[in-house]
Amino acid sequence: IAAEKGEYRHFMQKEIHEQVRSLTDTLAGRVNFDEGKVRLPHLNLTPEKALRIKQVILTACGTASYAAQVGEVLIERIARIPAKTVIASELRYNDPIIDENTVVLAISQSGETADTLAAMDECRKRGATLWSIVNAIGSQAMRVADGYISMQAGPEIGVASTKAFTAPLVDLYILAVLLADLRGVITPEQRRKLVSDLRLVPDLVGRCLDREAGVIQVAREMKYIHNMLYLGRGINMPIAFEGALKLKEISYIHAEGYAAGEMKHGPIALVDRDMPVLAIAPRDPWYEKMISQIEQARARGGGVIVVATDGDERVAALADHVFWIPETPWMLSPVVTVIPLQLFAYHIASLKGLDVDQPRNLAKSVTVE
Ligand code: G6P
Repeated sequence: IAAEKGEYRHFMQKEIHEQVRSLTDTLAGRVNFDEGKVRLPHLNLTPEKALRIKQVILTACGTASYAAQVGEVLIERIARIPAKTVIASELRYNDPIIDENTVVLAISQSGETADTLAAMDECRKRGATLWSIVNAIGSQAMRVADGYISMQAGPEIGVASTKAFTAPLVDLYILAVLLADLRGVITPEQRRKLVSDLRLVPDLVGRCLDREAGVIQVAREMKYIHNMLYLGRGINMPIAFEGALKLKEISYIHAEGYAAGEMKHGPIALVDRDMPVLAIAPRDPWYEKMISQIEQARARGGGVIVVATDGDERVAALADHVFWIPETPWMLSPVVTVIPLQLFAYHIASLKGLDVDQPRNLAKSVTVE
C-alpha cells in the first residue's frame, strides 16, 4: 500500500493532488472546445426530453450532498429549471412531490450508500426519471438509473472525499449547459463562453495546489484551535459546509459551515478570539456581501482567514491569513475555492499525527441506514 501512495504520506494528499488529472479526464470526451458543445451520452437526452423536465431534485449524502447544492445553483442559473437538493436520508421519508416530469439526480462516489439508493427507489416508485452521477463503475446507483454520468475521479481510498467532490461539480456544470442548450434558453454565444471557461479548470486547480506551502504555514499556526466557523454565500455557500466537514472528519476539530448572511442571526454570538472565521470571498456576485460579513467578524475579535482572488488587497487587508486563488469564472469557482480548504484540513490532521485516511468512527461507504 505504501508504494501506491507514491511520494505522498496519505492517500488523501495523493488524491487532492490527482485533481488536475481527474478534472482533465472529466472534460475529455464530453467537451468539444472547437464547437463549443458538450455531450453526456449516457443520459440519452433529446430536446423533447429536456423540455419536459419541470423540476430537478438532487439527492445525496455527506460530501456528495454539498456537490448537489452547487449543482442546484448551476441548474437554476444556467438551465433555468427549478432545482433543489434534499439529503437522501430525508427525501426517502418526505412523501416527496414527484411526477413523470421530475428528474431525480443522485450523486454518489461509491454508488452504494444505503440512504441514497433508498431515496432513488422511493422516487422511482413515484414515477420520476432517475439519473445518477457515480464514481464506482457498475455500482447500484449506476445500474438502477435511467441515465448516468460516470465520474472520472478514479478510485478514491481516503475516507474523506476530495477528488470525488470536484469531479461532479464539473459534471453538473456540463449537465446544466447541456440542458440549457437543449431547452434553448441560452444563445450560441453564451454556450460557447460557458464551454470555453471549462478549459481553464485543470490549470486553475493546479495553480492552487502549487500554493500548498502557504496553506501548511497557516495550518501550523492553527492546529491547536478547537472551533472554527466557515462562511460562504451563493454558489460558495456549500463550499463553506464542505470545508467545515473536511476539518471535522479528519482533524476532529469542531467546525461549522454557515450561510454568511445568517451569521447575524446566531453564530456571531460565538465569534471571539478563540473562534476563528474562514470566509470564502472570491470575486463572485456575492463578493461585496462577503466583505461586510468579514468586517463584522473582525470587529468582534475573531481571527480571519479568507479565500481570496489574486491581487485582491481590499479583502487581504481585513484578514490575518489569505489562501490565494487565481481569478476564476464564478460559476466554476467552487471547484477552485475548495482546494485550499481540502489542503488546510489535510495538513492540520497530518501535523497532529492523526490517521487521515481512516478517521475514527467513519466509513468510506455507508451501506446501512
Ligand atoms: C461517507 C463518506 C463520505 C461520503 C458519504 C457519501 O460518509 O465518509 O466521504 O461523502 O459517505 O458517500 P457516497 O459514496 O454516496 O458519495
